[in-house]
Amino acid sequence: MGKDNMLTVLNAGRKYLGVESLSGKVFLTSGLGGMSGAQAKAAIICGCIGVIAEVSEEALKKRHQQGWLQEYTPDLDVLIARIREARAKKEVTSIGYLGNVVNVWERLVEEYESTGDLLVDLASDQTSCHNPYKGGYIPVSLSYAQSQKLLAQDPAKLKPLVEESLRRQVLAINRLANAGLYFWDYGNAFLLEARRAGADVSGKQVAEGADTTFRYPSYVQDIMGDIFSLGFGPFRWVCTSGDPEDLQKTDLIAAEVLESICQEGIPERIRQQYTDNLRWIQQAGKHNMVVGSQARILYSDQEGRVRLALAFNQAVRTSHLKGPVVISRDHHDVSGTDSPYRETSNVYDGSAFTADMAVQNFVGDAFRGATWVAIHNGGGVGWGEVMNGGFGLVMDGTEDAAYRASLLLNWDVANGVARRAWSGNDNAEATITRSMTQDQRLKVTLPHHADQTLISRALDSA
Ligand SMILES: NC(=O)c1ccc[n+]([C@@H]2O[C@H](COP(=O)([O-])OP(=O)(O)OC[C@H]3O[C@@H](n4cnc5c(N)ncnc54)[C@H](O)[C@@H]3O)[C@@H](O)[C@H]2O)c1
Repeated sequence: MGKDNMLTVLNAGRKYLGVESLSGKVFLTSGLGGMSGAQAKAAIICGCIGVIAEVSEEALKKRHQQGWLQEYTPDLDVLIARIREARAKKEVTSIGYLGNVVNVWERLVEEYESTGDLLVDLASDQTSCHNPYKGGYIPVSLSYAQSQKLLAQDPAKLKPLVEESLRRQVLAINRLANAGLYFWDYGNAFLLEARRAGADVSGKQVAEGADTTFRYPSYVQDIMGDIFSLGFGPFRWVCTSGDPEDLQKTDLIAAEVLESICQEGIPERIRQQYTDNLRWIQQAGKHNMVVGSQARILYSDQEGRVRLALAFNQAVRTSHLKGPVVISRDHHDVSGTDSPYRETSNVYDGSAFTADMAVQNFVGDAFRGATWVAIHNGGGVGWGEVMNGGFGLVMDGTEDAAYRASLLLNWDVANGVARRAWSGNDNAEATITRSMTQDQRLKVTLPHHADQTLISRALDSA
């Protein structure tokens, strides 16, 4: 999941900074692990300078050998000199730092205070903060090996060190954010855990009990929530033949599908999404991001997903592809996940704290003929904080597969868009209204908007 979302989010960095291109901009983050490893690649694709701290030598070297991380150093002086040079030359690169991210943050504060140079423009964090006290976050006072040892021998002693490290990290972030840096939470529960550790990340609470607001935005509240509300999310497919040629063919088919949807006419509201996604799928093959299964992720909306699935099915039927294609999506999507600290953090009507969307999604997909479905707790932000529903559907070239795909995918997306519309999101309301005109069988109750003057009057007299 990480890389596609990271791409979307980094591109949104353009919006934060009010620039057309991220050229010469520095993006600081941490983690080169399972998902976080994609950050280095995403920085390159987005044309900026990625600086990624990683405490584990093994994880860092793996990304370097893979070609996703261009260079690295264990020396902070060298790192700072490289950041200055890359900024001056507007290089497109990813620079790893073998060490703790807190060291980088604190050094950047020193640089700012001594020279006035703010060397970082955008920043986030991708340590495993959903599980900070069991090895997910390495405290700055320990090396990676020392931390692992303490975790095994005396885990209770690790907790205060992690808390102190999180507080130090936030102190430095706050200092640079006051100077103009843009920081956001990238769905690893960093702000939640930092707050629990006593760091100053408090924000203005938007509703009673809905303590999901922080000093910094979560990327869902700020960017992804609106994208999900338009029905766009990480649709994915796997070529079961395992043949890279099949994946290439599906990329071409996908580009043709997106091009024809654009030619037929799309609302202005979603034009940018289609343009970005088309560019991604036209270039995806070049970036060599496939590790393992011949799989691809392409952000798509309801119409896009259905048409992609049907086009793949047709290609299987005519033997243009060597084997069936499995369609699915990430849990981090429009409808599949109820997670008040991530996927549903921009749902402000209180329903973010229920799990009904994921459950309805799972049950609805099962009834519409998914090959398999899943419902589970814990993905991403941690156990007890999230409920996820998911599906897989094998497109084997038959009429039956095509029928199931169109039933299931329409439900799978519209279910969440409707829910987001009820919570007052404009994009979602426009999207579900459009879906109802595209499919007359779909009947969704539209939200009734409260009269703001009545609300203000009631609040004044309260
Ligand atoms: N937003 C999304 O789309 C998305 C997607 C996937 C995962 N996530 C979340 O992102 C987090 C990372 O996921 P992952 O699969 O990469 O986990 P991971 O554990 O494989 O990788 C995290 C890396 O961070 C490093 N690290 C820990 N503390 C550090 C520190 N203080 N300084 C520098 N490096 C440090 C670890 O050594 C590790 O390699 C998780 O919390 C996960 O839930 C978010």
